Amino acid sequence: MNKPIGIMDSGVGGLTVMKEIIHALPSEEVYYFADSLHCPYGPKSQEDVKRYTAEAVEFLINKGVKAVIIACNTATAAVMPELRDEIDIPVYGVINPGSLGALRKSDNNEILLLATEGTIKSGAYEQGILSFDQDVKIHNLACPEFVTLIESLDYENPDITRRTVAEKLAPYREIKADTVILGCTHFPIIEKYIDEFFKGEKHIIDAGFETVSVALVQLHKKKLLTADNKSPVHKIFIHGENQRFEKVMN
Ligand code: DGL
Repeated sequence: MNKPIGIMDSGVGGLTVMKEIIHALPSEEVYYFADSLHCPYGPKSQEDVKRYTAEAVEFLINKGVKAVIIACNTATAAVMPELRDEIDIPVYGVINPGSLGALRKSDNNEILLLATEGTIKSGAYEQGILSFDQDVKIHNLACPEFVTLIESLDYENPDITRRTVAEKLAPYREIKADTVILGCTHFPIIEKYIDEFFKGEKHIIDAGFETVSVALVQLHKKKLLTADNKSPVHKIFIHGENQRFEKVMN
């Protein structure tokens, strides 16, 4: 079906998901709605995040998308699974695929979740993971500093990024968990520093990447993938300030 796939995030984080879609599905057009005006979602109430997300999804539907990926963990935690019943195109969140990805990789059933305050407070990852396997130990760590680091573009300075990551993760240096979930779509932008902090010894799970794999299979089954489009035109709609966004995108 020659219609775009819609994705939304509070800011630049969804670009990590958009990149995965373009890589996995080069024929697909992608429309991305970035709610930079309301970023960060992490510290906001569930009601506010729910409202912003519903508005973003409605915007994308009005642009004619055939499916929506909520490329934001905080938004997924606030609106899923209810949103699935409210709209009549397929909608995918990032938390269940991220949970499953971590369960597949972990050998010792101990997982460290890095996410926003909103995602951690919602308990959505815990529910997701424990619904598949009750014997898993989950350590939750809210990392709003990482969102600020990325949205401010300070992450472009490796020294600042290394320092921020080291300060935040210092209490977890010796953690037994063998798997780390990047439970915020902003975090893959600094994945290499997180991996470096743990000396490459942990499995790092990118929830966005896991989601794209799931969505790809589902869209194929529903016969919604584009048959043959050699020159897809991607569009990005930025709600609010766009200069920083363009820098990260480039
Ligand atoms: N990228 C968003 C997520 O995956 C969060 C960033 C924010 O706080 O807005 O949760």
